[in-house]
Amino acid sequence: MALEVIILAAGKGKRMHSDLPKVLHKVANKPMLEHVIDSAKALNPSAIHVVVGHMAQKVEQMVQSLDEATKALITISLQEEQLGTGHAVNCALDKVKDDSEVLVLYGDTPLTPVELLDDLVKSLQDKELCVLTANAQNPFGYGRIVRNAKGNLDCIVEEKDATDEQRKITEINTGMLVARASVLKEYLPKLKNNNSQGEYYLTDLSGMLAKEGKDVLIKVAPDFEILSGVNSKPQLAFVERLYQRRAAQKLMEAGVTLADPNRFDLRGTLTCGKDCFIDINCVFEGNVVLGDNVVIKAGCVIKDTSIGDDSVISPYSVFEDSIIKRKATIGPFARLRPGNVLEDEVHVGNFVECKKSHLGFGTKAGHLSYLGDAQIGRDVNIGAGTITCNYDGANKFKTVIGDDVFIGSDSQLVAPVEVKDGVTVAAGTTVTKRTVHSAKDLILTRAQTVIVEKYERPHKIKK
Ligand code: UD1
Ligand code: CA
Repeated sequence: MALEVIILAAGKGKRMHSDLPKVLHKVANKPMLEHVIDSAKALNPSAIHVVVGHMAQKVEQMVQSLDEATKALITISLQEEQLGTGHAVNCALDKVKDDSEVLVLYGDTPLTPVELLDDLVKSLQDKELCVLTANAQNPFGYGRIVRNAKGNLDCIVEEKDATDEQRKITEINTGMLVARASVLKEYLPKLKNNNSQGEYYLTDLSGMLAKEGKDVLIKVAPDFEILSGVNSKPQLAFVERLYQRRAAQKLMEAGVTLADPNRFDLRGTLTCGKDCFIDINCVFEGNVVLGDNVVIKAGCVIKDTSIGDDSVISPYSVFEDSIIKRKATIGPFARLRPGNVLEDEVHVGNFVECKKSHLGFGTKAGHLSYLGDAQIGRDVNIGAGTITCNYDGANKFKTVIGDDVFIGSDSQLVAPVEVKDGVTVAAGTTVTKRTVHSAKDLILTRAQTVIVEKYERPHKIKK
């Protein structure tokens, strides 16, 4: 039997107090709706229908930004007015085949484990409807599951419509359900909106079926927290931390040492070799790969970068789109902008910025330098304050430095320029393409020093 998934993503999310539609708010730097689409996709459905409404264009744009294989599965349905979750599902039904099973997911519930959804789908069997519930310590804000004396589902009542007695119920509606398309098509048009919010509640479907004596199955999830919906910023922060703690747990289980799993942030994927150590407050974005024995000290922000075995990254270093090979020592306060390759045993120290540069084996740039568009050989020493002047205000130019070069402190290399193998550039020298030299030469700029004897500095006139 074919499975189709409907994802509700039309609501405004009033309680977020934001101009951004709620489902586009991010968890681990990924829109909540994208998390839900990913989970849906993992179930191998024949189609995914996303219901959009509030700021539909923006939500559609996000869907259009997904990869082609995912987009091929997705159809968009417009819910022009947000008249409730039941109405929203109804808006997608004309695209759903009569004999399909339908899984309904909410775009504001991003962390639901795929295995649980899979279980939910399987538990429908030959029945009409199965709802996913959970037991919450603090059920405030959720629909409550009202069971009859036999323990079967009687109805689901929303917080705002519940009696004081019903509000005490701790079994809550997660919002997720699986149903036969034929049942949804028959019953959803019959929903009424005579409730406190004047909405067509999807949750009333269960009550309607129960009244007709039909079995509504209930699947109780083992864990409530992970099924938390996001309606407000505090709930967004709660779900974010939950995501991060789970990510941290997985890494620790695989052998990574985290100084504090509560101060760890992953916004993408992180692959680690053996015996890696990650200190507090590091952020990993995009796709980051660490080899064996890599140490990342506090406060580093690392994006789309690979770091080889036995490297040590000192605090507050910021990397993007770079390749660092083995035994590197980098930072503190180093910045790698996109496009660098650092060969084995490179050292990049504090306040050094590299961009689109290649640093050969054993090369060291210890302090306060800018290395942009530079091809640097092996065993080069870049003195403090060395600058590659790679930009003339309009164009970028390349600096080439051979092997075993020594660049003295406070030197400028005005690109395009080449410094040959074994050359020594004395401190404070400006090298340009007109600096004609051979391998192993000394290049030296010394402006004449002028002495003015017994010089009187200007004085401030006291008022
Ligand atoms: C809903 C459930 C509640 C459940 C809770 C779980 C109903 C009536 N209530 O309440 O029982 O405990 O989720 O998190 O279903 N949406 C639309 N169109 C609409 C209204 C909503 O697409 O007209 C979408 C929203 O974008 C959101 C989802 O449906 O992704 C849920 O809507 P929301 O308003 O957040 O419902 P809750 O009050 O949280
Ligand atoms: Ca919600």
